[in-house]
Amino acid sequence: MNILLTGGAGYIGSHTCAALVEAGLVPVILDNFSNSHPAVLERLQQITGQAVACEKGDVLDTAWVRQVLERRQIGAVLHFAGDKAVGESVAQPLKYYRNNIGGAVSLLEAMQATSCRTLVFSSSATVYGDPASVPITEDFARRHTNPYGHTKLVIEDILSALQVADASWRLGVLRYFNPVGAHPSGLIGEDPSGIPNNLMPFVTQVAIGKRPFLNVYGTDYPTPDGTGVRDYIHVQDLAEGHVAALKALLDKKESFTVNLGTGHGNSVLEVVKAFEAASGRPVPFQAAPRRPGDVAQCYADPALARRLLGWRATRSLDDMCRDAWRWQSGNPEGYK
Ligand code: WQD
Repeated sequence: MNILLTGGAGYIGSHTCAALVEAGLVPVILDNFSNSHPAVLERLQQITGQAVACEKGDVLDTAWVRQVLERRQIGAVLHFAGDKAVGESVAQPLKYYRNNIGGAVSLLEAMQATSCRTLVFSSSATVYGDPASVPITEDFARRHTNPYGHTKLVIEDILSALQVADASWRLGVLRYFNPVGAHPSGLIGEDPSGIPNNLMPFVTQVAIGKRPFLNVYGTDYPTPDGTGVRDYIHVQDLAEGHVAALKALLDKKESFTVNLGTGHGNSVLEVVKAFEAASGRPVPFQAAPRRPGDVAQCYADPALARRLLGWRATRSLDDMCRDAWRWQSGNPEGYK
């Protein structure tokens, strides 16, 4: 079966692409390369041993997306395409509402015009806002704390409304926690443009000497060591979670919303320590004020994903750090 991956040249998309090939499925990447690099296609060919089909264009171009769905005989879609920088979304909300919500509606309209009704959507733990407690289950209240998280929440609601209107849709909503790490080959990985917003890519850039030190945003949180606690999940586990979600939709034909996390949290300082051990490189850091919008703790209860998808994360924080280091040390400038 041919599977369309919108935003498939990006960090999560490219790793999922490799996992799909391994599962015997045929990925077709759709990407405008606004936040990804064409070099990833050659790397994917090295990993999978085959050329990965790619359609360059924008998911907002509904007529073109419909044409791709039909020409490529797409059986299901994994929707990754969208902007994802929390801080940028506060500064440029219309960009996020246009690209993320507009892009999702455009994709769904294109799918509705064809016979393709199976979709996996890349959502985020951000829809939980500041959780009342941890671990987080899927029935927790959703509230957004920034336009980026708001777009994820609104798209989830659009999918719910679509399901009510047309029961033939098979919709898998995956709420990612904190994806980190890289493919064990070291050929693909996280390649943020500019100064990294997220912890792990910043840590790896400090380790290769691109940044002098890490700012630890907040050391006075109500957590064991005072720094923020998150559910870091290996991008390979996340990619395999998508394959499991797709198979569940195709086999059982029932829609679902699940957390994709490991079920336990690690603090910023624990990540730094694990990374230094895995890389053998020092990661100097400085305490800095809390980052607006950050929460103290956020980690998943992944029991529902295990029950519905037969999936669970298997890779450790050490695996995440070792694989992140192999990618960064082998590609100091990312894909450039
Ligand atoms: C993790 C922890 C920071 C950078 C966001 C989005 C989420 C997803 C992942 C897109 C926090 C601390 C970070 C740094 C630090 N994005 N930190 N110094 O904020 O949990 O989640 O990114 O899908 O939807 O909300 O991830 O990696 O930015 O931060 O101390 O330079 O590391 O305070 O405790 P976050 P993060």
